[in-house]
Amino acid sequence: MLDRATAGELPKKHHTILREPDGAIRYEHCITRDGFDGPYTIAYHMRRPHTAKQVHALESFAVPEAAPVRALRRRHYEAKRLEPGTTPLASRTPILHNRDVVVSTSKPTAADRVYFANGDGDDLHFVFRGSGMLRTMLGDIRYRAYDYVFVPRGIIHRFVPDEGEPHWMLTLECTGGVSIPKQWRNPIGQLRMDAPYCHRDFVRPSFGGPVDEGLRHVVVKRQGRFDGFDYDESPLDLVGWDGTVYPWAFPILAFQPRVSSVHLPPTWHGTFAAGGALICSFVPRPVDFHPEAIPCPYPHSSVDVDELIFYCDGNFTSRRGVGPGSISHHPAGIPHGPHPGAYENSIGAKATTELAVMLDCYLPLHPTPEALAIEDAAYHESFR
Ligand SMILES: [Fe+2]
Repeated sequence: MLDRATAGELPKKHHTILREPDGAIRYEHCITRDGFDGPYTIAYHMRRPHTAKQVHALESFAVPEAAPVRALRRRHYEAKRLEPGTTPLASRTPILHNRDVVVSTSKPTAADRVYFANGDGDDLHFVFRGSGMLRTMLGDIRYRAYDYVFVPRGIIHRFVPDEGEPHWMLTLECTGGVSIPKQWRNPIGQLRMDAPYCHRDFVRPSFGGPVDEGLRHVVVKRQGRFDGFDYDESPLDLVGWDGTVYPWAFPILAFQPRVSSVHLPPTWHGTFAAGGALICSFVPRPVDFHPEAIPCPYPHSSVDVDELIFYCDGNFTSRRGVGPGSISHHPAGIPHGPHPGAYENSIGAKATTELAVMLDCYLPLHPTPEALAIEDAAYHESFR
């Protein structure tokens, strides 16, 4: 959650009357986190927000199930082999998962036909290819490639990709929520001067009042199942809102990378905190400047976490056989590191153009059947 934003009409004080010139009253809707103890947003609807009729859900996506434990190996999934198709919601394809996070990709070819609200977690999308508009009950956000797009749990929204270009998103569904790491906040919640980004880097919703697109159906996901709700009128009927719970976009290239005399661990690239996971951004940067530095990542045993990397663009000097759209999974329990020769060859390098999203998870990640179909079986042995 970010700093307080405000949009549209509000009464002077919360929980008091908001009435239109014609006498019609507006209905308050408090969206609260952590019970009533956490961040919140107060929205004002033209109509009571809790009157939708429950119906069969018109859209859904695959939900991962408990998976058998497999042999302990380094894994590589070639997401480029997944076929594009359908809408952002319906084409969401889970690849790896644990109790805290579901990692999916989607390659939609059309806009969402229904609204969606995720009751199971916050969705952090990374737009790998394409651009478009996220339409939400709190306003619209234009996004483009290399943006993180955050949709808080429970917020009604749909994606409208721009036509004429391939669209590809990586989605992290985080059941424990997504937040700014606490070390980047000062005591009043403002981003610190030494944080790797500033408030101005975040794109907030553009709000223009009620929206009626003719859509009445909202799909809600809760406990892994999908239920539909039909509204009599548009559910995007807000006249105003204020608060700290709202969607935003953040361009990964706005992340300010750290560089040291010698190699810094991934924690320095920590961008967002999730329950049970840390989300890191690797962006182009100069590399280590000690005269005897080895810029390539050292082999390491991060004994408590499973590591996932989504490779976007640039040169991945430490790895061979991976390319844009690759997803690597290096499990805890065995060490991992650079491919043969990469460690030695990095000496003297001045810069890297790598662009990648990394996830360190405390619970083991399991592949889905869709992941097994795109696995590069030779990956583990490629480090010998
Ligand atoms: Fe690693």
